[in-house]
Amino acid sequence: MRDTVVIVGGGKMGAGIACCAALAGNRTVIIDITQENAERGQINAAKNIDEVAQAGLYTTEQAEQAKALLAGDTELARYRDSASMVIEAIFENLPLKQNKFKELDKIFPAEVPICSNTSGLRITDISALCEKHVERTVTTHFWFPGHLVPLVEVVVGDRTDIEVAKAVKATLNSWGKAAVLVKRDLPGQLANRILQAVIRESVNIVEIGLADPEDVDTAVKMGMGIRFPVWGPLEHIDAARLDLCQNVQRTVLPEISARQDPSPVFAKHVDKGEIGYESGKGIYDWSVKDMDELAKNRNDFIIYARKFMMERGLL
Ligand SMILES: NC(=O)c1ccc[n+]([C@@H]2O[C@H](COP(=O)([O-])OP(=O)(O)OC[C@H]3O[C@@H](n4cnc5c(N)ncnc54)[C@H](O)[C@@H]3O)[C@@H](O)[C@H]2O)c1
Repeated sequence: MRDTVVIVGGGKMGAGIACCAALAGNRTVIIDITQENAERGQINAAKNIDEVAQAGLYTTEQAEQAKALLAGDTELARYRDSASMVIEAIFENLPLKQNKFKELDKIFPAEVPICSNTSGLRITDISALCEKHVERTVTTHFWFPGHLVPLVEVVVGDRTDIEVAKAVKATLNSWGKAAVLVKRDLPGQLANRILQAVIRESVNIVEIGLADPEDVDTAVKMGMGIRFPVWGPLEHIDAARLDLCQNVQRTVLPEISARQDPSPVFAKHVDKGEIGYESGKGIYDWSVKDMDELAKNRNDFIIYARKFMMERGLL
């Protein structure tokens, strides 16, 4: 019986994905290079399960059942006959992923979808060495933190069977995720293309001195951002009238950034070693700003929004 989700790579994302798979009632095994790594992934997946249960998204009973479905291992071949799907979440390195996909393609029969959690690589390139059933390879890009953010981008590669991608999308939706189908294998998938457009203009506004970083972040968080969980940009233009939005584009588009290379704002900071929170300084000075508090607020808000959407049947 094919009842096991096989997650390859038990790091930050592997543990988040394992949490989602187990809470959906699947036997879930994390495969890593060493048993110690696999078990660390399993422990972190269990912590994620406890976090979402304590937040009230699942009952204690559901959490206990999910934790009992988790395992850690190093032997992929042991799951040849029980795997329902495989999700790879190893390091973001193309040759490493290509070799892993070649191995996965050899081990698992044709009916098992083989998915990559890559954030930036093309599934077409990741599956380039697959010789048996490349048509069942697809990207499933869970957004970080994987156990909290609903979005998963399912990207169709040049040689992916669209029906496999649609079936994977349906499976992820049945787990309670918000899976979207990305029909072509282009850089940025879907959501990162939009995020990069927002980042490009945010950095541009700082660069031209139109507003300070705090005010840019406040404008995004308290304006469009607070509406976005229930009010998408395309729904917005229909509500606002297309002819009005057409006029706004005529006026605003010539004024905003259309640059094709990274803004010099990045080089200005990076050249001084100011790479952000990790070095203590980036756009902000992190000696006077608290990243832990920021991340806690982010996670608490996501949980709050997810509860709202579950109550309204939106998720
Ligand atoms: N961290 C994020 O915000 C984020 C978000 C979305 C997608 N991703 C993508 O998810 C993937 C994993 O990222 P992460 O942040 O979880 O990485 P990570 O470094 O936290 O974990 C990677 C894990 O893979 C294991 N691993 C490496 N090579 C392996 C192999 N050959 N076989 C089995 N296990 C192996 C490592 O031991 C480690 O436990 C990457 O492709 C990354 O780009 C990351």
